[in-house]
This record gives sequence, structure tokens and C-alpha cells, in this order.
Amino acid sequence: MNQFPAGFLWGTATAAHQVEGNNINSDNWLYEHVPGTIYAEPSGDACDHYHRYREDIALLAELGFNLYRFSIEWARVEPEPGEFSRASLEHYRRMLAACHEHGITPMVTFHHFTSPRWLIASGGWEDAATPDKFARYCEQATRYLGDLIGAAGTLNEANIARLIMKSGFLPPIEDVRRAPWWTATARALDVAPDRLSPFMFAASDQAVDVLLAAHRRSVEAIKSVAGNFPVGLTLALQDIQAGPDGEARAAQMRREIEDVFLEALRGDDFVGVQTYSRTRFGPDGPLPPEEGVELTQMGYEFWPEALEATIRHTAAVTGRPIIVTENGIGTMDDTRRIAYVKRALQGVVNCLKDGIDVRGYTYWSAMDNYEWMQGYRPTFGLIAVDRETQQRTVKPSAQWLGAIARANGF
Ligand code: BGC
Repeated sequence: MNQFPAGFLWGTATAAHQVEGNNINSDNWLYEHVPGTIYAEPSGDACDHYHRYREDIALLAELGFNLYRFSIEWARVEPEPGEFSRASLEHYRRMLAACHEHGITPMVTFHHFTSPRWLIASGGWEDAATPDKFARYCEQATRYLGDLIGAAGTLNEANIARLIMKSGFLPPIEDVRRAPWWTATARALDVAPDRLSPFMFAASDQAVDVLLAAHRRSVEAIKSVAGNFPVGLTLALQDIQAGPDGEARAAQMRREIEDVFLEALRGDDFVGVQTYSRTRFGPDGPLPPEEGVELTQMGYEFWPEALEATIRHTAAVTGRPIIVTENGIGTMDDTRRIAYVKRALQGVVNCLKDGIDVRGYTYWSAMDNYEWMQGYRPTFGLIAVDRETQQRTVKPSAQWLGAIARANGF
């Protein structure tokens, strides 16, 4: 039996936009509805978690989990600049209280990809004024919610744009900016197309400065009003490997996609590691999946060993405690989910044996939800959600991982 340290956190995660439903004041809602959108379908009611959170949290506790990571939605909390919605904050207070009622530590993410439309209309994630705006929102929210927060992450995957762009998941930004959906969005927000800077596309050097400043200032703001819970940043970390003759390129990508961020986190309480697969680089760029390697629903390789590699890399660069804040697989075959998580957890065990301070493992995702541009097709959840009736169905993997959480070992 692989026993985990006492107090190890066993969690599942969601993000507001992907599960709440009708997040209509957010920028994403607009991207999903403009003519020519690259989003497969709109998010709509999502999992109606905004209304069903009580039952969902109770179910996660019943399964055996002791951590629930979810995000609060900036577009709801601050619908217009400087105008804070007490009713929305009250909603998140009720969610936090529900976690405590069920013995679950709530981990709050202050920003998970979506922003208020007004932020994007005023320069978004490349604008030097954004860090202060973000810090003000975090401060207000913490004032209202801080006594119930168990742990917090500021920005989810601050490096996601770098990862997407440099790993070839999306065309180069110059091409994106010419796409009809992009120009339609810019028109709707009354900004020039080259001034439109949604979070998922903020990959420039300037954006990296803005993102890291937003993290730093929000940590200060959160700590200035509540000092009793750990605060960190989460990053999208693939295991970056070198294919034939790809050493130099892989090293450069590791720096540009990961290390510029990791190095900035050396003063934080913890680092959130989020890993799904590996990416191999050749001398000219990313390589396609290797022949013979199984693919997930997302089209990338089934590669659970990536988690051990990214934990080791994060520990080496930052020296900070680590919480795995996301790891998971989109698959129709729940037996492959179990196989994936088992191998990923073996990696966590190997790291713990080597003295690396890993404090928790969070599976993405609690339930099948809105997978951004890919819509509802990919199914990452431990719990299935009927798109018509919203009925929840627990998958065998949920029972299996919940039992591990209860036993604190496997
Ligand atoms: C994100 C999630 C997303 C998941 C699976 C992560 O990059 O934080 O929002 O659903 O990966 O693709």
C-alpha cells in the first residue's frame, strides 16, 4: 500500500464558466456567440452548478474527497468597473460554507480564463492597468469571503497562452487576428483587433509582464486583508521533451513556456501544478504524437508519467511546496481514466519518496463540463452530467478515486 502523508489533500476541480451556466457578462460568452466563432458550441446552462452546487458538493464529500477547487467569476462579482455585486459574493459565501459543512477544504481560484467584458474592452491581459484592477477585485472578494477560504490560486494557468501558441495548438497570433470571429469580437467590444487581448491568447512578452504583475499584486492584496490561508499560482505544465535533434528547441520552450513563470513564484506559499500530457519538440517546433502512443479525446498523448516529470521540474526551479491542482484525462472509456490516474499517482508517490513536498492531488474534473473551444464533447469528469436533464451519474472512477482519498493511499 502506498500511504500518503497525513493531511494530504484529495480533490476535484471545476471552473465557474465551465460549470455554472449563463455567464453572460464574461468575455467568453461573447466569443462563443460571434459570427464565425471557433467555439464548437455555446456554454449555455453548462452544468447549472450555480444552482446545484449544494448537491454537487455533498456528492463529492460522500465520494470521499476532502478538497474542492472552484473559481469565483470576476464578471459576476464586479459586473462594471468598481461596482461590486454583494449578491454574487453572497452566493460564493454559500458555496464556501457548503464545503465546510461537508468537511471539504475549499480552494478558490480568482480567475479561471474568463474575464469581465469591460476588462477586455479596456486592453485585457496586455494592458499595464490590468494588474491593479485584478488586485482590487481580489481584495474586495477576499474581504467578503476570506474567513471561509481554505487555500487560493490567483490566476489559473497564467502561462496557458504561451503553451497553446508555442506548442502549436492554435495558429500564430497574426493569423488569429485576421480571423472573422476575432475581428467581429473586436468590433463588438469597440477595440482595435490588435488591442484585443483575451487571457487564452495573451502570449507576448508584455502579456507575461502583466500576468506576473497581476499575480504579485493580487497576492499582496489578498494577504493585506486575510493572512490565514496559502496563496499560489497554478501553471499549465506539460512534460516538455526533446525529439530527435530537438534538445535546444525543447530547452528554449521549457524556458519560454514554463521557467519564466516558475522563477517568479519562489516567494509563494505553494505552486499549483497542472499537467495532462507531454509535448515533444524537434529542431523546428512541436512534433506530432509519437506513432503507437494512445491518444485521448483531446488528441494528445495518453502520458500520465508527465505528472512526475512536471512535479520534479517545479520543485527544482521553485523549491516551494506543490499541490497538484489539475491532472486528468478526457475519455469515453472510464477504465482508461482509472489507468491514467493510477500511473499519475505512482509518479506522485515517487516524488514523495524522494522528499519532494507534494501536499495534494486534484483530479480535473469533478464532472463532465464545458471544454472551452471543444464544447461538451470531451468528457473529463468523474461524474457524468446529462445535458438535457442535468442529472448526475457517478462513474466507477469516482468511486475508485474517492476510496483512495478515504484510505489516503492505494
Ligand atoms: C484548464 C481547464 C481545462 C482542462 C482540460 C486546463 O488547461 O485549466 O479549464 O478544462 O485543462 O483541458
